[in-house]
Amino acid sequence: MYSVGVIGLGNIAARYSNPEDPYPYCHVGGIRLCESTDLVAVADLSKEQQAEFKQIWGPAFPPDSIRYYDGSAEMLSSETLDIVAVCVRGPYHYEVTMEVIEAAPKLIFLEKPMGCSLDEVDKMTKAAEAKGIPIVVDYSRHWAPHLLRLQELVRDGLIGDVQSVIGYCGGGVLSFAIHTTDLICQFAGYDPASVSAFLQPNTSTVPEGYEPEPGVIAGTIRFASGVTGYHVGQHATAPAFAVDVLGSEGSLRAGIYIGATVRNKDGELIDNSTLDLPKNASVFKVAYEQIAAYLDGGPLPHCTGDDYMAVNEIGFAMIESSSTGQTITIPCQTRNRLIYANG
Ligand SMILES: NC(=O)c1ccc[n+]([C@@H]2O[C@H](COP(=O)([O-])OP(=O)(O)OC[C@H]3O[C@@H](n4cnc5c(N)ncnc54)[C@H](O)[C@@H]3O)[C@@H](O)[C@H]2O)c1
Repeated sequence: MYSVGVIGLGNIAARYSNPEDPYPYCHVGGIRLCESTDLVAVADLSKEQQAEFKQIWGPAFPPDSIRYYDGSAEMLSSETLDIVAVCVRGPYHYEVTMEVIEAAPKLIFLEKPMGCSLDEVDKMTKAAEAKGIPIVVDYSRHWAPHLLRLQELVRDGLIGDVQSVIGYCGGGVLSFAIHTTDLICQFAGYDPASVSAFLQPNTSTVPEGYEPEPGVIAGTIRFASGVTGYHVGQHATAPAFAVDVLGSEGSLRAGIYIGATVRNKDGELIDNSTLDLPKNASVFKVAYEQIAAYLDGGPLPHCTGDDYMAVNEIGFAMIESSSTGQTITIPCQTRNRLIYANG
């Protein structure tokens, strides 16, 4: 069993679901359902948040199995953990993750947005790599079981050569729509070459040193493979967190909240029963299972290293492109633009 400590007990750690939910959309629900992980410690600066967690989730775990801490520093200095989940808001990711790297768990599961600048992303990556600690970034919708299966089928030629991937989702480019940026890469590949985008300016007041986070209107991603990605922010009735994948021999539409529709070259529907699609499961359970399998000696989990870097490069290049009116070649040259990505 791998011990897990969770930092921050807000929405994504524990509040989006409760123990009765069969497909919990939160870290503690996934840790609880994964047979190889034990939740042993949680930390939150707020006593109220700790009390709420204890009341709702406490009875779902063995008595006295979870230790409570008033903050990340206290938890990290008292515990030796295999996995640490960082579930604080974006502007605190850098500071808290650097603290976690110092404590040297075996793996860090970090919420999106990974950081507020590419410079923060670079520094966290370098520090973690120096200690051999993989960081998995939680583009949580990535782990929907049918999407993982379709990713594999597409890679094996289900719709021929992928030519275009159209992903749908508006909202904050780094802290919300980034799920769809990852989804586009999940089917297009993680090799972006250049980005051009048109974003919705955000006029809210943000702390000194930061720029407000714009929202996605439209973005185009050219991948080194020749695939083109289109990020559609204003998508009317098209489903959010979904993609249309267009290939030389067919097409598919899929997303976390919609099933799969696969068509052949002539536009005829392919029977889903021929695709061996898995049953639904909590994306957090699936992610923690991938993490545990890695710790058992298996392959790296998804959304690590070069893959999260590609997604971050695209997100920040979209901001750079929209503000300069230029197409941005990746890797993005500007790495210190600090965005208040407070999702
Ligand atoms: N993957 C998803 O679908 C998804 C959905 C929602 C939020 N998120 C991400 O999760 C992160 C958290 O968002 P949220 O909505 O859960 O936030 P939240 O505000 O609900 O919770 C954050 C908690 O972290 C605590 N905290 C802050 N600093 C701390 C520290 N040093 N030690 C211990 N606790 C600390 C706060 O007291 C707060 O309770 C963000 O990065 C957000 O973008 C991801």
